[in-house]
Amino acid sequence: MILDGSIHSWDERRDIIALSTEEEAVAFAAEHWIHTAQRAIQQKGHFFVALSGGSTPQKIYAQIVSRYKDAIDWTKVHLFWSDERDVPLNHTESNYYMAMESGFKTLPIPPNQIHPMRTKADTVASAADYEDLLHRILGPSPFDLVMLGIGEDGHTASLFPHSLALQEEEKWVVSNTIPTTEKKRITFSFKAIHHSARIEILVIGQSKQAIVPLVLNSAIRSPFPASAIGTNEVKALWILDRAAAHLLSDSERS
Ligand code: 6PG
Repeated sequence: MILDGSIHSWDERRDIIALSTEEEAVAFAAEHWIHTAQRAIQQKGHFFVALSGGSTPQKIYAQIVSRYKDAIDWTKVHLFWSDERDVPLNHTESNYYMAMESGFKTLPIPPNQIHPMRTKADTVASAADYEDLLHRILGPSPFDLVMLGIGEDGHTASLFPHSLALQEEEKWVVSNTIPTTEKKRITFSFKAIHHSARIEILVIGQSKQAIVPLVLNSAIRSPFPASAIGTNEVKALWILDRAAAHLLSDSERS
């Protein structure tokens, strides 16, 4: 029974947990984030996390800050972002701005360990700069956690259906253009997303109930980029609430 609030294996690349309410899903995601951080800091002396954008993670970030501010040594944390819009860092549409305003700006994370994607006029150069930063900071280590969401069209990070970034197999960070709006983004490639010890996809709310079964039941090279997230080596954990998981049924599991 998928909707029983425990973690199930969906297939060899994905695990899934569906909590009854948004509040329970937020609480689970915040606790999972902190446990991942505690384990990484204990085992490796750092927590390298790529934050997701959009609206879904706002309450999760706020709960991490309000409930767990004393739970980890924040001086061991490095914040990265898995994608960014082509706007200034103080713009309300910025994923960096959203995360900091959700509460991360109140935490004692050393400023030189907060790594926003700085978009410039030339987003290709911005992407290359961020890739250089990742290699410099991460060294041989993978991310400890990459956080993602999905859009109603099945995009994740800023990997949109039919966009050129889907074909990127070498770079970690690329400029991408949203085909439907021509707006530019900077985004992790699939290669960067899978260069992580843990990957989670946060999906909350009724607006996502139609896309969830489509993404989970489509092949990797489907029209939905989020279908490709997760590997046999690094399973992606889907964290949903009952509203987003509403159209899933046990019969669909592998
Ligand atoms: C972004 C995100 C994007 C987001 C999805 C879901 O920059 O918007 O990286 O991939 O996760 O669009 O957004 P919501 O959480 O707002 O539904």
